[in-house]
Amino acid sequence: MIAEAEKRAREAEVTAWVTHKQADAIALPFEADHFDACRCERLFEHLHDPAKALSEMARVTRSGGWIVVLDSDWGSLSIDTIETDAERRYARFLAANIVNNGYSGRQLYRLLRRQGLMDVMVQICGIPFTDYAFARKAMIMDRAEREAVVSGALTGQDLDLLHAGWEQANGDAVFFASLSMILVAGRKP
Ligand SMILES: C[S@@+](CC[C@H](N)C(=O)[O-])C[C@H]1O[C@@H](n2cnc3c(N)ncnc32)[C@H](O)[C@@H]1O
Repeated sequence: MIAEAEKRAREAEVTAWVTHKQADAIALPFEADHFDACRCERLFEHLHDPAKALSEMARVTRSGGWIVVLDSDWGSLSIDTIETDAERRYARFLAANIVNNGYSGRQLYRLLRRQGLMDVMVQICGIPFTDYAFARKAMIMDRAEREAVVSGALTGQDLDLLHAGWEQANGDAVFFASLSMILVAGRKP
């Protein structure tokens, strides 16, 4: 990925000011106050300690610089079906198991405020899914369903009913699911 990013930077003629480095988000290899601004996107949902990652972003950003974090709120996942009870258990299982920190999006306002950032602002962007095959892939639904049945969150019968409804909806071109992405920005004091 680094090699591909470097190639694209060369093609875009931005290598004079763009470099790519790999590092752990909770231990950034940069001096304090190094950058004018710092951002990440769909990173915090993977982290066990997102507050530490945010404090690292704040550390490496200069005073007055913007820090911008966009992340999923898997707790907002909603998939249209008449089987609403099973769907709620399904969505809850996905939020708790699909990534390490599935409720990351809704935590961002609290994290940025507690980090002491100024001028904190929020935008919420809803992602619609109308392609059933793409939704299954993007939300790793095959794996989630296997694990949900093993854990007892869903029964095989729940899944049969959900699948029948979603496949019917897909055939009728009316499949619909949605997920909220939460963007929060603030400036370092
Ligand atoms: C869903 S991807 C988003 C990547 C990027 N925002 C994009 O649009 O391509 C999540 C990324 O977080 C990275 N990641 C996960 N844990 C990390 C950590 N502790 N430190 C740094 N990166 C991490 C993964 O390697 C992956 O590239």
